[in-house]
Amino acid sequence: MAHVNQEKWSSGTAFLLAAIGSAVGLGNIYRFPYVVGENGGGAFVILYLGIVLFFGIPLVMTELTIGRRRQLPPFTAFTELSEGKKSQPFWKFIGFTTILTPLGILGFYFVIAGWTLNYVVSLITGQLSDLQEGQTQAVFAEMMDSPGTLIFWMTLSVAITAFIISRGIKAGLEKAVNILMPMLFLILVLLVIYSFFNGGIKETFEFMFTPDFEKINMRTVLEATGQAFFSLSLGSATMLVYGSYLPKNESIPKLACGVAFADTFVALIAGFAIFPIIFTNGLELDSGPNLVFVTLPVIFDQMPFGQVFGILFFLLLAFAAITSTISLFEPAVSNLEERGIFTRRKASLVVGLGLWCLAALSALSMNVLSDVRLLTFNDTVAGKNIMDILEYMSANGMMLFNSLFAGIFLGWVLNRKEALEELGLGDSILFKFWRGIIKFVVPIVVGYLIIDFLGYGFI
Ligand code: PFF
Repeated sequence: MAHVNQEKWSSGTAFLLAAIGSAVGLGNIYRFPYVVGENGGGAFVILYLGIVLFFGIPLVMTELTIGRRRQLPPFTAFTELSEGKKSQPFWKFIGFTTILTPLGILGFYFVIAGWTLNYVVSLITGQLSDLQEGQTQAVFAEMMDSPGTLIFWMTLSVAITAFIISRGIKAGLEKAVNILMPMLFLILVLLVIYSFFNGGIKETFEFMFTPDFEKINMRTVLEATGQAFFSLSLGSATMLVYGSYLPKNESIPKLACGVAFADTFVALIAGFAIFPIIFTNGLELDSGPNLVFVTLPVIFDQMPFGQVFGILFFLLLAFAAITSTISLFEPAVSNLEERGIFTRRKASLVVGLGLWCLAALSALSMNVLSDVRLLTFNDTVAGKNIMDILEYMSANGMMLFNSLFAGIFLGWVLNRKEALEELGLGDSILFKFWRGIIKFVVPIVVGYLIIDFLGYGFI
């Protein structure tokens, strides 16, 4: 079939910035610190680093390879690469689930991106000043209870994302990451310096790097894997679609290492920006999702220049979120455009409207629809509201499922020569190591995690 010719990144660096932008997001700055906090620190961090190294990097390489091989978006890539094989219908199905997953993620991600925008403005206008601990809790609860507020800010994040996407790869995505990513790094550095001067660095080092392996069990392994996959944007079409715009002369292994390194570095640095402030103020780390939206604002309010740094912190979160939402929005638009179904602009509008409806349901599930339970037949999800279900199904289940089959596809279905050519590692030990991981280790380990996810775990 005829494909609409798609734009490419103007260079390897442009790709790298965009892919790091995708990887670095709410997962690093909002989620990573509280998950580390809840799971007791050092041992979890070491486990996480191991997972990034042994599964994360090989899987990023795998997805970039599938995308770049024919330079086609996810659905078409799976379809064409499995041409002539009996299993083609199954791979088309995988192409389809791969496109759907980022849309499911956006269903809740847009809402949280909206919270960060709201917090930036609330801090600027002083609505979060002179507050005691219980009061920031009340401000947060008030936002959750107000459908209008949640939907307003969510709509803004959908609109910004759709606008960037509608302008295309070079004038939209590249331009946005060229502006947002340097600002993001600058703010992060400023925040770490600020934290450094306010004490608590020693405790942070101890907490993050002193392992207590008793804290590790099957649950923590599952949690660390989920966090690593989410943080590296795996199993959700993003790396596939960004890979499809990558010029053929760029080295996939090098770029995959670059993305994984930067992503992990930012997650650790985010810990160094947040934990010291928490330690110096004698607060607990295990407050879960409240850590960023309830605990931090109280502290910023009490510290010197706290308002300025509070604004910077939430701006950082907002920038990180937007560079991720564009990467989640792009796969569906790319496929619609390439198949000639819609122009890019129309596709951005249609996908945007659809996602707005989904995200609105998520937003309302925290107030008016809080009693609605969609899936009551399964014990694990029976008590979850719409937003939690979206998160659980897409960010846990589907990401693992798609990653598993991306690995199996490249390891077992596509012939070895294609991967060899695309990776440019020659028939070296590195290539063999990578292939061994995706052929054998990924199916066993990720396969088990999926069984566990479905509630049939046995370890
Ligand atoms: N990696 C992003 C984060 O850490 O927030 C989230 C994400 C982006 C997940 C893109 C999946 C994806 F395809």
